[in-house]
Amino acid sequence: MKYKTIFEPFKIKSVEPIRLTSQRQREHHLHRAHFNPFLLHSSDVMIDFLTDSGTSAMSAAQWSAIMSGDESYAGARSWQRLEAEIHDLTGYPHILPTHQGRAAERILYGYLGGKGKIFISNTHFDTTRANIEFTGATAIDIPMPESAMIAFDHPFKGNMDTEKLESLIQTYGAQNISAVILTVTNNSGGGQPVSMHNAKEVASICKKHKLLFILDCCRIAENSYFIRHREVGFRNKSYRSIAQQMFALADGCIMSAKKDAFANIGGFLALKNKALAEACTNLLIITEGFATYGGLAGRDMDAIAVGLREIFDPDYLHYRITSTTYLGEHLHKKGIPLIMPVGGHAVYIDAQKLYPQIPVNEYPGQALVCELYLRGGIRSVEIGSVMFGKYDKRGKLIPAPKELVRLAIPRRVYTQSHIDYVVEVFDEIIRTKENARGLRITYESELLRHFTAHFEQL
Ligand code: F0G
Repeated sequence: MKYKTIFEPFKIKSVEPIRLTSQRQREHHLHRAHFNPFLLHSSDVMIDFLTDSGTSAMSAAQWSAIMSGDESYAGARSWQRLEAEIHDLTGYPHILPTHQGRAAERILYGYLGGKGKIFISNTHFDTTRANIEFTGATAIDIPMPESAMIAFDHPFKGNMDTEKLESLIQTYGAQNISAVILTVTNNSGGGQPVSMHNAKEVASICKKHKLLFILDCCRIAENSYFIRHREVGFRNKSYRSIAQQMFALADGCIMSAKKDAFANIGGFLALKNKALAEACTNLLIITEGFATYGGLAGRDMDAIAVGLREIFDPDYLHYRITSTTYLGEHLHKKGIPLIMPVGGHAVYIDAQKLYPQIPVNEYPGQALVCELYLRGGIRSVEIGSVMFGKYDKRGKLIPAPKELVRLAIPRRVYTQSHIDYVVEVFDEIIRTKENARGLRITYESELLRHFTAHFEQL
């Protein structure tokens, strides 16, 4: 389009009111939530950027598909529609439905894992890592070295370091490596895309050493958008065919349908290998449900089947990526330090750089998360030492490598005016940044403390 305004390629048929709150009210809510936005009531939030997972607005076509959901225990028509859709997209013959992405992870990595086993990824998402480590296996991240440089501009900063992959295979021996996992886009690395060239290199190394190559593909449509616009040779390819080409390189995939399938719940595991699929199906039946529903209602499977097709709509993908980039670039122009270039589903802010006066053990990321809520009613998430910090033997904090805050944007939910509002709130964040204060943890759980921790302002 030749116009500057970002045009949302949809009309709004059904609305959910947002309750506007004053800063005084939000102060009260934040105190009640112990300065942890995970503990806020969603009705007290004005713009919810906690996650893009399961928060999409479904289309009229998805809602009408829901009405034709077949709730039969076995062999439901809804399953047949979903299976056909996933098969057509991925080309994989064996498909196992699950209630969300991590259930597929638990099944596949639970089967392949165990003490002494190694998994290698560009970056394991937290649930992926947790499911691998839970079996006693080791998860090793090898993103390309440039990904550590927050402001460094590179078109495919989500790529895997393939030289390191070769050297890890030499170190550990191919027989001890259970799988190589390419996460597209690389969520924990900033929502950065992976190039087709990199996926081909990973595939050929895996083939040479007979290693299983799995795609964590929950944002593959967004990744395809970047390939088409940034990688030579894809300009005339459709987004769907680019995704299909990437699926063809791997031996299987795990998908959380809560992202690039516009569904509020769901996921799947799809595999080329029959024996592996049979072993996983046994685990699926024990914990998720029968092989033709895997923890999902028939209507959910129908919503996913329709969503998987809609997500590749060129007008949608253009709007989606342009809108995320718009937010990121406007914040960047104001001097907010960000992971650059801006990724597909979220903007990642470097809170340590924004608040140099707050030391890591006073959690600068959590301070920004609280400021964003207090000043604008915006809910975001800390991805730093609250989430990944550990303690040494003397109880001293071992900080995370970066102190980031993620603004993850739900799909088709907020309009351009909402995004402009968020940009304006950052003017106040900048104006008041010297006053931002760190926090002290007053309560924490042993595992995944960020969900439930209580804080006190210093
Ligand atoms: N893989 C990636 C790359 C993810 O981003 C997620 C979830 C999962 C796997 C697990 O899927 O939630 O359906 O079990 N990411 C969400 C987020 C939670 O906020 O980024 P799930």
